[in-house]
Amino acid sequence: MKLNNRIANLPVYHFKKIDDIKRDLMNKGIDVTDLGVGDPDLSVHKDIISGLIKGVSYSNYNQYPPYEGINELKNQIIKYYDEVFSVKLTSDEVIILIGSKDGIAHIFPALCSIGDYAIIPDPAYPIYEIVSSLWGIETFKMPLSEGNDYLPKLGNIPQAVASKSKMMMINYPNNPTGAVADASFFKEVVNFCNSNNIVLCNDAAYNEIIGERELPISILQYDQSKASVEFGTFSKTYNMTGFRIGYAVGNVDVIKALLTIKSNMDSGQFIPIQCAAIEALKLTRDYIYDIRKIYCDRRKLVENILKQKNLEFYKSKGTFYVWGKIPKNYTTMEFCTEILRKHRVIITPGFTFGSVGHDNFRIALTRDKKVLQESLNKIDVY
Ligand SMILES: Cc1ncc(COP(=O)(O)O)c(C=O)c1O
Repeated sequence: MKLNNRIANLPVYHFKKIDDIKRDLMNKGIDVTDLGVGDPDLSVHKDIISGLIKGVSYSNYNQYPPYEGINELKNQIIKYYDEVFSVKLTSDEVIILIGSKDGIAHIFPALCSIGDYAIIPDPAYPIYEIVSSLWGIETFKMPLSEGNDYLPKLGNIPQAVASKSKMMMINYPNNPTGAVADASFFKEVVNFCNSNNIVLCNDAAYNEIIGERELPISILQYDQSKASVEFGTFSKTYNMTGFRIGYAVGNVDVIKALLTIKSNMDSGQFIPIQCAAIEALKLTRDYIYDIRKIYCDRRKLVENILKQKNLEFYKSKGTFYVWGKIPKNYTTMEFCTEILRKHRVIITPGFTFGSVGHDNFRIALTRDKKVLQESLNKIDVY
């Protein structure tokens, strides 16, 4: 059979080995604790469920929804950006997505032709690189290092690359490192992209998962000319990964290009799911503070256990991930395999996120404190 050559050229899926061991243990009836995936264990707020149910009384709820999303949800997102970030948006600067991954995957072909350059971080959410490979887009990887608080050094991007790049993807708060960006970095990166005619895209999947009383920030607060776009999701803050609902906001031409790609690939999200998302955004800020507290408490607990085990980690300020350092004389795969085989706990090898992560592992704080404590206490002292 003749398949697309680019599928064969996709970056190797490093997590497969861990998956194989997990399946093998589970087939033998052995229980495995998964601290690998970033899928919240918390329940969905009752107002969100009511919104979902009420959504079936929406006229034509069962028919093709508008490609760009229903106006009621767009308006609620506009209100959220106004209230939380003081950013004013119009309806044509918002598009509803089938999860933010939908928009992230489609923004690459919306902006880049075959052979064009996209600038992406390393380590990173693997989709940026995979989608680029699938669409024949070249990537320039910006290494993120702990010494620079996992922010890219923009001065290290060669001018020749900047000149031929169509887009740059950044992701703050950052998966996998948990780093957050501050206003001064956002100003610098907006300035860099604007002066090189590069569309800046911020993947803000974890924008609200930060310190308990911290203020979330949006790239659009620092982009007066609105040349950039930002991706948001209901998956992480509202425990709605299975609903598949997110959005992109920002530059009107970029949103239009994204809509062109999407309207030829899929249709809008099921209307009751969009109604559920409206109710999510209507929840008070206290809901958000409660969620943050849960993850902050879990983080403290895990960091304390790692300290007792002599394992170093980055002092993250956002997301629900802990980015740890593997002990000396181990590769990341050896370490994660040992933790799985010996203690039945899955943690993610750092190089799943790119070559810069070869000395790291990622723990997802998406299990309750009791499970985190029981599973991580079993680890040896290194
Ligand atoms: C950095 C980042 N962006 C985007 C997503 C996609 O989220 P969703 O498609 O559920 O909105 C994820 C999911 O893990 C992520 O980690």
